[in-house]
Amino acid sequence: MVKAGKSVSPVVIGSLHKFSEVEVFQLREKLLSHYDANHRILPWRSIAATELDRNKRAYAVWVSEMMLQQTQVATVMSYFEKWISKWPTVADLSKATLEEVNQVWAGLGYYSRARRLHEGAVKVMEDLDGEFPNDRDSLVEQLPGVGRYTGSAIASIALGSCVGVVDGNVNRVMARLRGIGADITAQTTVDHMWSLADQLVDPERPGDFNQAVMELGATVCTPKTPSCSSCPLQSLCVAYCRSQDGHQKASINSHFKKVSKSKGKEDEGSVKDIECLPECDLCLRKEDWDSSLGVQNYPRKGQKTQSRLETSAVVMLQRMNGQMYFVQRPKTGLLANLWEFPSISLTSEEESQWEESITQQLQEFAVPQSYASSRIFVSDVLHIFSHIRQTYKVYKLLLDDKKPEVVCPSRYQGSQWMTREEFMSSATSTAMKKILKAVESSEQKAKVFWYTIFVLAY
Ligand code: ADE
Repeated sequence: MVKAGKSVSPVVIGSLHKFSEVEVFQLREKLLSHYDANHRILPWRSIAATELDRNKRAYAVWVSEMMLQQTQVATVMSYFEKWISKWPTVADLSKATLEEVNQVWAGLGYYSRARRLHEGAVKVMEDLDGEFPNDRDSLVEQLPGVGRYTGSAIASIALGSCVGVVDGNVNRVMARLRGIGADITAQTTVDHMWSLADQLVDPERPGDFNQAVMELGATVCTPKTPSCSSCPLQSLCVAYCRSQDGHQKASINSHFKKVSKSKGKEDEGSVKDIECLPECDLCLRKEDWDSSLGVQNYPRKGQKTQSRLETSAVVMLQRMNGQMYFVQRPKTGLLANLWEFPSISLTSEEESQWEESITQQLQEFAVPQSYASSRIFVSDVLHIFSHIRQTYKVYKLLLDDKKPEVVCPSRYQGSQWMTREEFMSSATSTAMKKILKAVESSEQKAKVFWYTIFVLAY
């Protein structure tokens, strides 16, 4: 039997979205000169540039790249310094406990990254003789949590491999440079971005080049306030050209000629026709161009996944001596191994049933009804996780120093009474610290209230 095959039309990509050889040379030169004059001094960059031991370079860049996933450079700096001074080598990290690793990571979010670093360090020491893999593909294959981006970043920055990188910043820079207006998450677009990155990377300085593109995206070609006037690549930028002529008929050709003439030289490499092929799969459709957005018409984002709304009740159980009760989350799943206040998900649609759920939860912890009913509502605390808008309904319940004995349900790994200081330096999430702050701020307000009443009364 002959199966009816699906006919797949080939992908059409116009030359507007590619770089000529001359443009590649110009771009490397302009970008690296700008980077040399303006780049930020970052601790992992200094290690990558000066450390003679390739293993130490790979380790530092690996740690920095894992930290930089979803997190800004400014936030990562102090975490990186603390991490490297505690565990200067992969061998040191492999000997740490997961609890210690989570403790140092606490507050950075996306805790699976910390667990993977730890797992990876153990793997390098136990299975790879303490040596980091030598190239991008082996890094991706061998190290947990290392995908194409991170593998390419380590290989180029620490090991000098000539491979491009594509992250959010690089996507934006390249989409603007080459007028790529197709959905940035579509496979065709993703493949094209990687092939552009591999074409552009400078074989003489691959690590610097990749960091220069990322840095340009982070500091000049930003999502909301791009500063085209200070961009070294303005003369190679299709988006800039279109923002000047309003995506009208004027060709990028004449624009680039104008720019180069005003600079007194003919910029041959930049001469191309702004019109693309009518059937091109990467173009922004003319009707989608919004003249009020200018270069920000690029990149075109994919459909945002809707955040899930979740509500939980959190109960801070506190002894008279100030100690608070914490439970340790399971070994897998969201926020694995972290310490938190006891909480339950309020899944019921009916808000009227929530109080009953909280009472039941307290019974699960063996808190007698006589205590449970004296809990006080503190406030709602909102925390945004990657795909969850989490509302915590925060309650507080004061207990005597010895009684009742609180019993930890088996779904947790364990429980512990901690002082404020112990809690603040434990492996816990930012959300839990926010909850503690909410309780403290409500206590402060209550103190001021009662003090005012007292003053007014007497
Ligand atoms: N983002 C991810 N890696 C980076 C790096 N090495 N430099 C600057 N920003 C980055």
